[in-house]
Amino acid sequence: MIAGGTTDEHLGPGAHGVEIGVGVDQEGRVAAEFHRRAQQLGGGLLDELLPRSPSGKTDRARAITRNPYGNYAGPMPDSSLPQSGAAGLSAAPYSAPAVAQKRHLVTELPGPRSRELAARRDAAVASGVSSLMPVFAARAGGGIVVDVDGNHLIDLGSGIAVTTVGHAVPAVVAGVQQQIAQFSHTCFTITPYEGYVAVCEALNRLTPGDFEKRSALFNSGAEAVENAVKIARRATGRDTVVVFDHAYHGRTNLTMAMTAKNMPYKDGFGPFAGEVFRAPMSYPLRDPLGTDGAAAAARAISDIESQVGAGRVACLVLEPILGEGGFIEPATGFIPALAAWCTANEVVFVADEVQSGFARTGHFFASEHEGVVPDLVVTAKGIAGGMPLSAVTGRASIMDAAHAGGIGGTYTGNPVACAAALAAIATIEQDGLVETGRRLGERLRSFLLDLQAKFPQIADVRGRGAMQAIELNVPGSATPDAGLAARVAKHCHQHGVIALTCGTYGNVIRLLPPVTITDDLLDDALTVLAEALAEQVG
Ligand SMILES: Cc1ncc(COP(=O)(O)O)c(C=O)c1O
Repeated sequence: MIAGGTTDEHLGPGAHGVEIGVGVDQEGRVAAEFHRRAQQLGGGLLDELLPRSPSGKTDRARAITRNPYGNYAGPMPDSSLPQSGAAGLSAAPYSAPAVAQKRHLVTELPGPRSRELAARRDAAVASGVSSLMPVFAARAGGGIVVDVDGNHLIDLGSGIAVTTVGHAVPAVVAGVQQQIAQFSHTCFTITPYEGYVAVCEALNRLTPGDFEKRSALFNSGAEAVENAVKIARRATGRDTVVVFDHAYHGRTNLTMAMTAKNMPYKDGFGPFAGEVFRAPMSYPLRDPLGTDGAAAAARAISDIESQVGAGRVACLVLEPILGEGGFIEPATGFIPALAAWCTANEVVFVADEVQSGFARTGHFFASEHEGVVPDLVVTAKGIAGGMPLSAVTGRASIMDAAHAGGIGGTYTGNPVACAAALAAIATIEQDGLVETGRRLGERLRSFLLDLQAKFPQIADVRGRGAMQAIELNVPGSATPDAGLAARVAKHCHQHGVIALTCGTYGNVIRLLPPVTITDDLLDDALTVLAEALAEQVG
């Protein structure tokens, strides 16, 4: 019996026709499913993580049914709300059962408890660390974040593209709990462990390209980007890193140099690392008319060749769909042309898939939309269902160029984060979440295009899968309207929808829901977005 009183309403087809089984009276079925996943993850790793019965046998059924429903040490169910499956609430197979999948506000936002915490935050936390919404999270499940006042907010941000599989997904919770009970750290560079190897094997299998690959694990996206550059420099013996207008690669010294936007990422934080050359990006909305992908690539290549020289370039680092820069989708042909130029000039082509990767865009990796095979792929965010983990994966001949001890770090590839990644990857693969993301994208896109027909302020609808955006301009002009984007986002926040902005000009609203969000929840959030636009344009 599952503690908390929830029953097997979490079984059965989900909103996207996906079925996962984690229920009370279904232990046999649950155990079979868990075992199937464990086997698929390659051998006895998960078996090792499972609790043992007194006889020493692995108790798979107990492991899955206890987590997170039974001995779950996290926040308790919110008794002020009807639970999932109660009348009027849609059952959400990807949510922790305690979190009803419904927007529900019980106070104004921010509520009194959040305001108290905000005051403490202001006195204790450095001002440079900002928060978009002054609403403090207490727990989360599926596509809902519950704040400290009991408000249920729809999450259209996924913590910036991190909880792609959903919040508190049972498999991820179970993986983390099992691993931390075994050991939380040894340092892979001191005493290695299987989870790290299994994540690398999965990355080598999942990333584009059927050549021999290697992976290395890190903590954050920026750290992985830095390491991709180190590896490329070592492999080529060259210095220069080519990046693009509007790019975002992180906030460390080298990645600040690689990031385009000054405020808030760079201002006053220099001097920055050298040997970084910025080339023009393909930005279909703002490029001169007739600039197709080939022409935009030719423009970039011409700048690189004339101002750097191909022979000095170690790597070209590109986000296949730009993230913070405004969800810019380069014109078709731009990325393949650059990749071909890299191959011809022995330049390492690095796809920064930190935001666009891991089932976010309707492919496992956004590079796949145009069949591009990068030499190195940088991943983070959605890789581990919310735990900090990042990676560089690519051609063995390049990856193995770094000498022993040249890359790594104390916490890189932490075992708990690796367990979360294995569970997230298994969830994505077993439950067909790449396809789910593609269908979600169609739904999002059709809604946003309808919205564009009503609001001339929407200059562009773009993105793929569960990574979509609208760019807001002053109607009939190319003038960005950052004020409108900020007001629309604020309206969403006040009405219980976590919506993010982005873009070099701050005029883009981006939508990054968990791919497992229910249709009802998504529709409700989009209705709030439409209302926000209607109210704020006037
Ligand atoms: C494309 C891209 N690269 C790198 C990063 C940096 O990742 P992190 O914040 O984990 O350092 C981000 C973060 O948003 C990103 O979107």
